[in-house]
Amino acid sequence: MKKPKILIVGSLGMDFTFSTNVFPNEGETIIGKSFKTAPGGKGANQAVQVARLGADTTMVGKLGKDANGEELLKTIDAAGIHREKLLFDEEAPTQVADIILEEAEGKDTRNRILIIQGANMTIKPEEIAFLKEDIRNYDMVILQLEIPMEINEIVAAYAYDAGVPVMLNSAPSAPLSDELLSHLTYISPNEHEARDITGVEIRYDGDEVNMDDVRKACEVLREKGVKNALITLGGSGAAILNDDGFFHYPCVKGLNVVDPTAAGDSFVGAFCTAVCLGLGMEEVLCFANHVAALTVCGFGAMPSLPTLDRVVALMKEKGVSVPDLSALE
Ligand code: RIB
Repeated sequence: MKKPKILIVGSLGMDFTFSTNVFPNEGETIIGKSFKTAPGGKGANQAVQVARLGADTTMVGKLGKDANGEELLKTIDAAGIHREKLLFDEEAPTQVADIILEEAEGKDTRNRILIIQGANMTIKPEEIAFLKEDIRNYDMVILQLEIPMEINEIVAAYAYDAGVPVMLNSAPSAPLSDELLSHLTYISPNEHEARDITGVEIRYDGDEVNMDDVRKACEVLREKGVKNALITLGGSGAAILNDDGFFHYPCVKGLNVVDPTAAGDSFVGAFCTAVCLGLGMEEVLCFANHVAALTVCGFGAMPSLPTLDRVVALMKEKGVSVPDLSALE
């Protein structure tokens, strides 16, 4: 088994997180509890997660030439990500995110995120044209929806033509063209994004999602041309429908949820890493759920993304069998 080579094309940003006991209502000013900044952006979070798990990671995206961009570069370098192909905008700022974290007594911690995309949205087709050939060098490509849709469409088409599997983490929600869908190997919306794409409302039975609804949404995603329809379900884990059947893995319980930010990103990064290792789908889902579980135990997006040794330790603690991960070491 060889070390997976994964390319992430996507967003980088700086997160400004305000924590509070309660989300403010319209027209209301409330006094919060604390404020922190941390590097984030869905693409960069996924790249850092893949790298922290031990895969050979390359990131393509765009930063502004500002202090936030510099901070992000430091984090990217510390994770050992290849960033020679990163782009810089002379004028547009690095993406920023305003994250409100509600830490209400007796309730799960929740977040609300607002982003201003800045340089992420100034990537031009000619700036990523080199990927037409270069994309063959990777085992998998991961995309999200915080850069221009046109760029995602071009990269997905390059990967498809080169026979390289593509994962689209379809977040934040946006309409997807039939052509883009036809080029994807994997799609991974959360339950809200899945409803926007499929029209299937995923209901709750008490605290758990209704699995019939999840399966129905996966079926519609498959009808739209994506072979592997994966839906992340927050506290209900994740489920996937593919040619081999329907698989669900529940959320890893018994951990202290500090901040759910980037849980989906860590799941996607871990899922793709495990798929590249050739693990079976049950093992892939189990591994990715443990990675996401550790992410929600820490504050902030990138600071909370776990390393491989922490994931293995949690899996052993929870009594689940650890697959052969030696290619990542
Ligand atoms: O998925 C979490 C990320 O979404 C945050 O880091 C924020 O930057 C937004 O892009």
